[in-house]
Amino acid sequence: MVKTRTGGVGPCALLALVLLLAGSCVSVQAADEQATSGGGRRRRPHRRSAASVADMMVPITFLNASVDKGAVCMDGTPAAYHLDRGSGAGSKSWIVNLEGGGWCNNARTCRFRTRTHHGSSNFMERQISFTGIMSASPAENPDFYNWNRVKIRYCDSASFAGDTFDKATGLYFRGQRIWEEAIQHLLSIGMASADRALLTGCSAGGLAAILHCDQGVAPHLPPTCTDHLDATSCFFPQDIIDSIKTPIFLLNAAYDVWQIEESLAPSKADPSRAWRACKFNRSACNASQINFLQGFRDQMVASVRGFSSSKSNGLFINSCFAHCQSELPATWNGTPAIQNKRIAKSVGDWYFGRAEVKAIDCPYPCDNTCRNII
Ligand SMILES: *[C@@H]1O[C@H](CO)[C@@H](O)[C@H](O)[C@H]1NC(C)=O
Ligand SMILES: *[C@@H]1O[C@H](CO)[C@@H](O)[C@H](O)[C@H]1NC(C)=O
Ligand SMILES: *[C@@H]1O[C@H](CO)[C@@H](O)[C@H](O)[C@H]1NC(C)=O
Repeated sequence: MVKTRTGGVGPCALLALVLLLAGSCVSVQAADEQATSGGGRRRRPHRRSAASVADMMVPITFLNASVDKGAVCMDGTPAAYHLDRGSGAGSKSWIVNLEGGGWCNNARTCRFRTRTHHGSSNFMERQISFTGIMSASPAENPDFYNWNRVKIRYCDSASFAGDTFDKATGLYFRGQRIWEEAIQHLLSIGMASADRALLTGCSAGGLAAILHCDQGVAPHLPPTCTDHLDATSCFFPQDIIDSIKTPIFLLNAAYDVWQIEESLAPSKADPSRAWRACKFNRSACNASQINFLQGFRDQMVASVRGFSSSKSNGLFINSCFAHCQSELPATWNGTPAIQNKRIAKSVGDWYFGRAEVKAIDCPYPCDNTCRNII
């Protein structure tokens, strides 16, 4: 927990993380993470040629047959996924990426999402591009380019974890069923014979990957957490990662921009707007604000200490102002590096056991490889 001077609480230094769980499970991040309960980050288009994007456009598949099982988006429309089949040596390997996209926390913000792709498949893009860890390009994605790569769309607003219908609003919160039905479906179309798998996700999708990677923990929150903490606390990664058995890779910026904007200094907790300039522009932070952000980083680093001591886990905590670095080509296999090792190489080394990866960057501003987004 980070108590902030603004009165807000930064409950989760890890919330936005990207993880990659190996064995049956890895979690990474989703690039175009967008929007939260109220607002959230703007989409940042990345520069690519039209041709290369078109090459990587992957069509949507709706899970119509799962509607009867209640696996539906908030407005009752079918769940959906995008799949790009693997080939060659990767034909029996699977990456399952759980899309991110914030959460909602009251009737107004939840209803709003049913008019977007975060709450209804009616609004989902019929094709999306696969980039970064999802890319089919060997240059951009050397270790995973020829795997089966699937992105399960996020439209339940609770990190693929809820299972209820709210009579008052008429909204479904069926993330758990979407997860189960999508996985069953993927198993039936080839994943059952997978020899390798990686469950990934960023932000709300990263949390979903953590919540689901030990198969036994579904459909509820991990009992290893709920037996001593309340359910809300068990929604936060730092309270559950130590007890997860599946190997996990945490990829997260120490100065996670989503958390700075939405949890550390949300507008409601900052009526005098003392943090407004700083939270959208690190150059506008004064010395005491930077000091505060260093404390935020220190807490995060401390909270992954136990996690890091496990031989099977890996981490890459870089000192950048970023959010979700595994799907943008410019960050996945681009400039950010810790001791000259890029993210794609770090994740690949961990997944394939080529090297131990426990990379924690020195504090801001020492890293000149960042692609800061504020
Ligand atoms: C499946 O559902 C989608 C979205 O509701 C719809 O557009 C499509 O026609 C349905 N497909 C079939 C085969 O029923
Ligand atoms: C830095 O900014 C904070 C928040 O706006 C303010 O309370 C504090 O007085 C400032 N400190 C200095 C040294 O300017
Ligand atoms: C960020 O803040 C610095 C220092 O206050 C200022 O010079 C710069 O113009 C700001 N950048 C943007 C994009 O607002």
